[in-house]
Amino acid sequence: MSQPATRERVFSGIQPSGASHLGNYLGAQVNYVALQERYEAIYGIVDLHAMTTVHDGEQLRQLTHDMVLDLLAIGLDPDRSALIRQSDLPEHAELCWIFNTVVPVSWLERNPTYKEKRTDGIDNSNGLLTYPVLQAADIVIYKATHVPVGKDQAAHLELSREIVRAFNRRYGEIFPEPQAVFTDAPVVLGTDGVKKMSKSAGNTIRVFDEPDEIRRTVMSMVTDTQRIKRTDPGRPEVCNVCQLHRFFGGDYLQIQDGERTARTGCVETKQLLAERIIEFFRPMREKRVALAAYPDHVEQVLAAGLAKVRPIVDATMAEVRAAVGIGHTRASSR
Ligand code: TRP
Repeated sequence: MSQPATRERVFSGIQPSGASHLGNYLGAQVNYVALQERYEAIYGIVDLHAMTTVHDGEQLRQLTHDMVLDLLAIGLDPDRSALIRQSDLPEHAELCWIFNTVVPVSWLERNPTYKEKRTDGIDNSNGLLTYPVLQAADIVIYKATHVPVGKDQAAHLELSREIVRAFNRRYGEIFPEPQAVFTDAPVVLGTDGVKKMSKSAGNTIRVFDEPDEIRRTVMSMVTDTQRIKRTDPGRPEVCNVCQLHRFFGGDYLQIQDGERTARTGCVETKQLLAERIIEFFRPMREKRVALAAYPDHVEQVLAAGLAKVRPIVDATMAEVRAAVGIGHTRASSR
């Protein structure tokens, strides 16, 4: 089958701010893998974004390296897709600045993610406020049209579209409006069963942990808090353990039924979930261990990714600089 001359382009970014967890995987990363078949896919480890929360250089470098391993292990194919480190392309930050001159501060102040992060006590840096502007730059510097992200990113993607519209209004139709691509997973809740699974909430199930660690984490999960005695009927619709079973086996309706009728207890249902998560990620964990044995591999993958995207970024930025009136233009060489 012949490829169309230009495949539509996908971009997504992931912060290297901690170990990959089930929320990352079910919410977005499964789609990274799925979309690389049909689209020209570019995936960025967004280390500049992570600087809003990771303040130790050594640690950030390590987390970035580890995230490349995670993405390769879950099945990103560096021959098919481009894996890049955001900071290798300073133009992301340049385009962010250009967008900053277009974006009203009020749009950023009312961004729900920003408000949440403020409540979480994250330093209120200018970078935290500007975070979604850099995110918009990440996407549109590649003129990507599809962005696989978790549902928690819906507001950021809407803001990206607004930024594009504002820029295009001022300087002409340069950028397409990107659209989010969601998985069918809802916002994945953490082990507490209440908050969104996230590193900052400390409620993650880390997919590359050793089996015993995964068992320990899953066994600590909060189930239906109103089910006190083993013989009490459970409410699978409010039990996060039951909800997660949906993604790890075709028999989740039976499992839910077992809980509802008290045929099974929470402990068994958790044990089963732990084993299924372990089995599901086993091949990926093994692949990750194998890849980690070649320390140079990560930098080679990033260098190849950079080489692939360099011409795209150069072309976009030449167009942008010409439109906004900065830098030299080839046309004016006398
Ligand atoms: N904000 C995203 C997250 O936390 C990460 C991100 C940065 C991103 N730049 C992006 C996602 C561009 C998609 C596209 O998950």
